[in-house]
Amino acid sequence: MQYQRKILITGGAGNIGGALAGCLAKDPANYVVVVDDLSTGSATKLPDPKLPNWRFIKLDVNEQPAIASVMTSTAFDYVFHYAAVVGVQRTLNHPLLVLRDIEGIKNILELSKNTGVRRVFYSSSSEVYGEPFEIPQNEHTTPLNSRLPYAIVKNLGESFFKSYEQEFGLAYTIFRFFNTYGPRQSEDFVLPKMVAAALTGKPLTVYGDGSQTRTFCYVDDNIETTRRALYDDLLINETANVGSDHEVTILELAKMVAHQAGGTALITHLPPLPEGDMTRRCPDISKMKAILGRELVPLRLGIERLIKSKRG
Ligand SMILES: NC(=O)c1ccc[n+]([C@@H]2O[C@H](COP(=O)([O-])OP(=O)(O)OC[C@H]3O[C@@H](n4cnc5c(N)ncnc54)[C@H](O)[C@@H]3O)[C@@H](O)[C@H]2O)c1
Repeated sequence: MQYQRKILITGGAGNIGGALAGCLAKDPANYVVVVDDLSTGSATKLPDPKLPNWRFIKLDVNEQPAIASVMTSTAFDYVFHYAAVVGVQRTLNHPLLVLRDIEGIKNILELSKNTGVRRVFYSSSSEVYGEPFEIPQNEHTTPLNSRLPYAIVKNLGESFFKSYEQEFGLAYTIFRFFNTYGPRQSEDFVLPKMVAAALTGKPLTVYGDGSQTRTFCYVDDNIETTRRALYDDLLINETANVGSDHEVTILELAKMVAHQAGGTALITHLPPLPEGDMTRRCPDISKMKAILGRELVPLRLGIERLIKSKRG
């Protein structure tokens, strides 16, 4: 079978990678290979098993021989490098594991260069901005104030992608993802954690007074933006924020979840986190909006979908 696009997705058994793989595998013009070590991902997040045009290989992208065997046996047109150690607590507790992800970035870029990949897509993070100097955070004007290993790795990763383009002409797109949620996100993260607590009669926990703000992007908006960047040849050699620009405080979020889940859940406050809990975060998403050409999924609707999916 002659496919229009052969696509590799690392971290494709995760929240965002799995949703992307599922979306791209629905198009019979694509052949999709997902690699993932299942450290935080799960086989349940992989595409529909009835679809014939995708396969899964369990491997660690930081191990060069493992990823080399996949990338030299199929000539991929596009690579989405989404595999990474994620989660605030996990990344704070395991800084060396986080730093090891630099190996995966180098493996993907070197192999992409050597095997004729047409474009590499990288999942960077809002964390590269560190404590916000300006709101909204803009791809070009906001300084990168990365301090923690997770953010430093993402920042260095961006530099590697840009340098491979500069020296070898390997086209890239850097997505700076801001908080992205959906039914497949693990309960290590704030919104699914709150929904799970509210639905099981447990209190919703908030760090500090809950005045820190966040934005929450429904996963469908993320996937639609990245899919169009691929299909319509957009954001070539560019960096783009991908998230929501609707800012809410964590306390407001807890109240929304409690209300939408039935209104009986209690909210309790824990001491503030010692590090890694930024006061504000809100992206400038002009580039994303121009690509999407529609309103983002409202938070209230996203929470409703999350509650529905958890209730089963
Ligand atoms: N979800 C967000 O809000 C958000 C925000 C900013 C950046 N990101 C970035 O987006 C990407 C996807 O995140 P996610 O939210 O889907 O998290 P996730 O944990 O659901 O997905 C990451 C996937 O990578 C896999 N993985 C980790 N290390 C690996 C390795 N060495 N080899 C192979 N597979 C490996 C995990 O098993 C998991 O399936 C990550 O790079 C993350 O840093 C996510």
